[in-house]
Amino acid sequence: MKRGASAGVPLVGRRAELEQCRAVLAAIGEGASGAVVVVRGEPGIGKTRLVEEVQSIAAGMGFARHMGWVLDFGTERGHGAVRTIVAGLLGLERDTSSDDVESAIDAAKLMGDDCLYVRDLLEIPQRGMTDRFTRLSIERPAPAPRSASSSV
Ligand SMILES: Nc1ncnc2c1ncn2[C@@H]1O[C@H](COP(=O)(O)OP(=O)(O)O)[C@@H](O)[C@H]1O
Ligand SMILES: [Mg+2]
Repeated sequence: MKRGASAGVPLVGRRAELEQCRAVLAAIGEGASGAVVVVRGEPGIGKTRLVEEVQSIAAGMGFARHMGWVLDFGTERGHGAVRTIVAGLLGLERDTSSDDVESAIDAAKLMGDDCLYVRDLLEIPQRGMTDRFTRLSIERPAPAPRSASSSV
């Protein structure tokens, strides 16, 4: 759906659904942990429109909004929903370099394992890991010399 395609068109109905979403947002605003709301229905029934409305309500309640798209037919590597949302949380644009990510990690004051997870989710190389890994090169063992008793 094109962004803002329904802009200016008032939402009709959906009172019960909006009430449920408002209740979830209010609970989170009062300190409850996050929640997942799954919106499903046949094409054209109004899922996107409802989500837009909930986003607008959330914005009015002071929530930041971060979007990621999951498409049935997949997505370009590096632009998946999780990556897009994590990048958004760090204030990064869609296409960013590793250096941009490192600056954002510093700015967000992320520490320790959080940095590892963020780099992993953003699909950029890890840094500063040399003290945590020991590199082992495994080679084929040399064949054992044949003993006199084993030869036929
Ligand atoms: N409750 C509603 N009030 C007004 N317009 C709606 C409502 N639900 C859907 N629409 C309109 O109907 C069309 C299809 O809705 P959409 O949200 O794109 O469906 P879906 O995402 O389920 O495929 C859009 O033009 C949308 O703006
Ligand atoms: Mg839709």
